Amino acid sequence: MALIVLAADKGAPGVTTAATALGAVWPRPVLLAECDPSGGDLAYRLPGADGTLSPSRGLLSLGAVARRGLHPDQIYEHTQRLVGGLDVLAGLTNGEQASGLTWMWGPLGRALAMLSHADVLADCGRLGAHPELNDLLAEADQIILFTRPSLDHVAHLRERLTLIRRQVGLVVIADPRAYRTSIDEVRRIVSGWDIAFVGGLAFDPKGAELLRGRWGGGLDRSPLIRTARELAVRLSARLQERAHEH
Ligand SMILES: Nc1ncnc2c1ncn2[C@@H]1O[C@H](COP(=O)(O)OP(=O)(O)OP(=O)(O)O)[C@@H](O)[C@H]1O
Ligand SMILES: [Mg+2]
Repeated sequence: MALIVLAADKGAPGVTTAATALGAVWPRPVLLAECDPSGGDLAYRLPGADGTLSPSRGLLSLGAVARRGLHPDQIYEHTQRLVGGLDVLAGLTNGEQASGLTWMWGPLGRALAMLSHADVLADCGRLGAHPELNDLLAEADQIILFTRPSLDHVAHLRERLTLIRRQVGLVVIADPRAYRTSIDEVRRIVSGWDIAFVGGLAFDPKGAELLRGRWGGGLDRSPLIRTARELAVRLSARLQERAHEH
């Protein structure tokens, strides 16, 4: 089905949190793939369905067997399940591991894009630090860049837009009290660019904290999960529409 790349230019606007929230509410079968070359966070943040997630089962174990070619069927031999039922391909445990795996991003992107029974949300971290990810980005059906509405974040975002020669979607992580205004402001700032859409996700420290630990009470009604649900429905509908066009 579709490969959706989630990333930032620099800083830590909340890509991993957004990826987890979107994965939890995605309206179709989905795999969350931690493709951040700096290393994954999920094994340390969320419990697995059968205890803690093993950091050694994921991108690292996949990389060890995939040198001669990577077939989509191999992916699920390296995934694990989070306690809420979300399937994840756990990321590298440290950035050093990525230096031996620079060949992997292209084949990995192709395999993820060819998965027949699930959409893939690929958390790619900060693009500015990892040009090798371009091989994976080239395979994506949709690239989504996350930003906070502050000037410094948006300035970096614009810089990134000139470097990615693809149409991207933007998601502004905005305070619910100024939600529409923040999103409209970013939309105005990028109005000269070829942008697929500008959407929003709630800045919600409580909700984000719940996504770093145990799925807790109240998460379902948190602004973060509510806005993630709206975004997920909108995004997947868009992707389905595009798939029908082709
Ligand atoms: N929507 C949000 N609302 C409030 N706080 C958030 C939100 N998303 C993330 N945070 C907080 O910001 C910090 C960074 O979040 P996260 O790890 O998701 O960012 P990231 O962009 O993936 O960073 P990195 O590039 O380091 O992987 C965390 O402390 C997290 O709790
Ligand atoms: Mg991250």
